[in-house]
Amino acid sequence: MARHFMLTSVALLLIFFSSGGSANPPSVRNERIVGGNELSIYNAPWQVSIQVSARHVCGGAIYSKDIIITAAHCVDSTSVTLMKVRVGANHHNSGGSLIPVASYTIHEQYNQKLKYYDIALVRLATQLTYSISVKAIGLASVSPKAGSDVSVSGWGFTEENGATGFANSLQVVQLQIIERNECASAKYGYGWDFVGEEMICAAADNKDSCTGDSGGPLVSDRLLAGIVAWGFGCARANYPGVYVDVAMLRTWIINSANSL
Ligand code: ARG
Repeated sequence: MARHFMLTSVALLLIFFSSGGSANPPSVRNERIVGGNELSIYNAPWQVSIQVSARHVCGGAIYSKDIIITAAHCVDSTSVTLMKVRVGANHHNSGGSLIPVASYTIHEQYNQKLKYYDIALVRLATQLTYSISVKAIGLASVSPKAGSDVSVSGWGFTEENGATGFANSLQVVQLQIIERNECASAKYGYGWDFVGEEMICAAADNKDSCTGDSGGPLVSDRLLAGIVAWGFGCARANYPGVYVDVAMLRTWIINSANSL
């Protein structure tokens, strides 16, 4: 009896290790955003690249002909003279147009350390001309429901360690919404102090936004529902991507855009 049990255990262990090994062969690891696909700018004409000193630092979304929505940590204490916004491009480092920046404003409740209210508006020095590859996205007026499908796009790292740098062409990945209260609960690794009241989470197995996607759009029903804010690593189980909940900050966005 004992002997039979031991043999069964050894067999189970062998199955466990061999399947664990082949489930994750190094040759087919995450190639994109993390786990995403290439996206044409024609299908996300609101997507922009925020550049500092001629380098991509973050994503962003077109709100109007001269206002871009991004994350506060993307522009925080950066001189506007060093900033440009690339619009209408499939690549973060070529194509489309590069527009100089006139000014920006950061949410009054932005907390640099805890990343609360991680949202900023950037005003362009010249107005955009809308086209098939340059267009604004509307703001969500209700927060996306738990479990609903959303997508996030950007040129960020295609794997957590960023060994291959930013993605050459724009990437997109589909995720499911995790509401704030669930995301802050013990079900996940963050806790209530880190997942602020204005945050929303999204995740899927082996898929996520990552470094360099910050400030970029989380889209639900073709409306801007979230802004890429932060995460622990990228695509780790129990650590969803965390986004600013745009519907909650809709009034702030509208009022601040009018006075910027
Ligand atoms: N903070 C990162 C940035 O500056 C974005 C992180 C998003 N991380 C995640 N696991 N979803 O680009």
